[in-house]
Amino acid sequence: MENHQLIDLLNQMTLEEKIAQLLQLTAHFHEGTESEGQITGPMEEMGISEQMVTASGSVLGLSGAQAIIDVQKAYMSKNRLGIPLLFMADVVHGFKTIFPIPLAIGSSWEPELAEKSAEISARESAVSGLHVTFAPMVDLVRDPRWGRVMETTGEDPYLNSLFSRAFVRGYQGNLQEDTERLAACVKHFAAYGAPEGGRDYNTVDMSERNLREYYLPAYKAALDEGCEMVMTSFNTVDGIPATGNEKLMRGILRDEWGFDGVLISDWASIREMIAHGAAEDDCEAAYRAIRAGVDIEMMTPCYVQNLPELLQSGRVDKTLIDEAVLRILRLKNKLGLFENPLRGADPERERELVFCKEHRKVSYELATKSCVLLKNNGVLPLQHESNVALIGPFAQSDDILGWWSCEGVKEDAVKLGTALEERLQSGKLRVANGCDIHSITQEQLEEALEAAQTADIIVLALGEDSSMSGEGGSRTDIRLPEAQLELVKHLQKLGKPIAAVIFNGRPLDLQGVFNEADAVLEAWFPGSEGGAAVADILVGRVNPSAKLTMSFPQSVGQVPVYYNRFNTGRPLDPLKTEERYVSKYIDSPNEPLLPFGYGLSYTTFEYSDLTLSSLEMTPNQPLTVSVKVLNTGTRAGVETVQLYIRDVSGEVVRPLRELKGYKKLKLAPGEHGIATFTLTEEQLRYHHSDLGFTSDPGTFHVFVGSNSRDTLEQKFKLASSQLA
Ligand code: IFM
Repeated sequence: MENHQLIDLLNQMTLEEKIAQLLQLTAHFHEGTESEGQITGPMEEMGISEQMVTASGSVLGLSGAQAIIDVQKAYMSKNRLGIPLLFMADVVHGFKTIFPIPLAIGSSWEPELAEKSAEISARESAVSGLHVTFAPMVDLVRDPRWGRVMETTGEDPYLNSLFSRAFVRGYQGNLQEDTERLAACVKHFAAYGAPEGGRDYNTVDMSERNLREYYLPAYKAALDEGCEMVMTSFNTVDGIPATGNEKLMRGILRDEWGFDGVLISDWASIREMIAHGAAEDDCEAAYRAIRAGVDIEMMTPCYVQNLPELLQSGRVDKTLIDEAVLRILRLKNKLGLFENPLRGADPERERELVFCKEHRKVSYELATKSCVLLKNNGVLPLQHESNVALIGPFAQSDDILGWWSCEGVKEDAVKLGTALEERLQSGKLRVANGCDIHSITQEQLEEALEAAQTADIIVLALGEDSSMSGEGGSRTDIRLPEAQLELVKHLQKLGKPIAAVIFNGRPLDLQGVFNEADAVLEAWFPGSEGGAAVADILVGRVNPSAKLTMSFPQSVGQVPVYYNRFNTGRPLDPLKTEERYVSKYIDSPNEPLLPFGYGLSYTTFEYSDLTLSSLEMTPNQPLTVSVKVLNTGTRAGVETVQLYIRDVSGEVVRPLRELKGYKKLKLAPGEHGIATFTLTEEQLRYHHSDLGFTSDPGTFHVFVGSNSRDTLEQKFKLASSQLA
């Protein structure tokens, strides 16, 4: 349809029909399906008319081609003006083919592969009837107590922005031409990743400068890539719930960034303004949300019950409602739903495409590239002839998909024990659970000790179950559960080499396992092919190359601990740790256990010859930075060479390190490569105290290395623009 036709359509709509477009409900309100779909929030009292339900504009959580075809047909048969429903769901890291969790995808440092995974997710979802995914989730995170860190790519604004763009490209592709793509909905705007104390839904309070510098860039990146929708966040931003925050939504999102797509509330977040203490009742909440520019209300009836009265009293202008409806109609039109309300939904294509071999292959590849080798005293890879005891609650667990695995079927996941059995010589593997996630019995322990007795090496498969992270999965104690630490203690007494594989959704406090084990592999929740990928790393068919994108703390008491922190006025001198009046803990180092960017390989790399093309940069003359990297080990490997900067005399203080670029080098044993970067004045800009985004002339440090801690260093000066 042309724009004028959409406006004609809008003009034909009654007020009730318009307001109904602004309501999103789960599937079980609708006729045509028995399925409830995914229920991803509290079920509120709705108290709305049958008529309103049958005219509501979109559905969440339902998938499956036939179910969606049935609901759409039943709906269309009753819809006076032939306006189709939009179907949305949380396809976060795969539809039925489940990819590693986003925090793991981040560890690959391969946005191209993330894009591919999003494309596959879109294709599987679209043929199963969906139109929109509530993804990507691009909230910057610094606190691993928060359960939703698993859904993001980590603590760095630059890297998060690269992934944000890649996910949007992958989901949307050419949305109008290709019916096997989804509209993306970037979330949660804004700063949902910074809840106080890491407790989900908790207050967020930060300066506008901090917000703009660290938290906003990844959302903006998604919009720059053409992301069609935005979801509000549950938290407050500067004291105002994001969902009713005019400055954030109208001011920054719409006016400043020019976003004209659909803005949806998170589940019940309009009504939740009452609990926040920012609205007296549903009516006030609706007023604040519509004024802020929220178009769709998810799962509460504040709009449908109160907008008529708000209009009548003149508190809300009709244009606000018309604008919101028009944005929704435009999205429906862009997806071609007026001509083809079923879009990609196709039961036959669904059968051939969903969870197909090619898709699982990509999931496998991504899993191999996202498992991070955290420690290795040489016990990995496993020796071909070794007797291996695989022990732990994840030895034969299928709970490896992680939270938000949409239509993923746990029983379809490749388990570690099964995959390892296939790769080791017959009779070389013994498997025992050793304990459950949270409990251990004498019998389990004896079975584990017995299995370990004859082994040359113990592979421990430990971790959090998938409900221990994800939405509503915040923890104050981020160690492995006590029962598993107990198991480690007993097995350690045998004096045999131990390689621990950890399955989980957040950086953990690894006390009780990191020092005790000879090797530690962070597997995250690796997805449908997780067992195969981990097993291939363990036996050495794959050389690990992933690097952390979120720091691992020494203990929860250090949290938040992140690489791009400030120095303070009394920084700790590592050579004078006894000094009292400095910024430090008296019972813990300041540094995390494992920093951002960290990850080992089965080979080793040596860095040398960090060279700058000039000691002075001008706004018109970028610097070239190069470094030599030598593979000093005996295997081919891939190294992610990282470039950081520090501005030592900012108008406001600047982080000790800021990632500005990275390069991947694939090197054979003995081979060296040169990683070359271009560094421009633009990359030195940041938000000043007046919120202006400019650079400071003066001295900068440049660091290049294999992680944010272990780097070579050089200095250069940025000349002021007058000198340029
Ligand atoms: O998309 C999600 C969001 O991330 C958290 N609340 C529920 C939404 C819909 O499922």
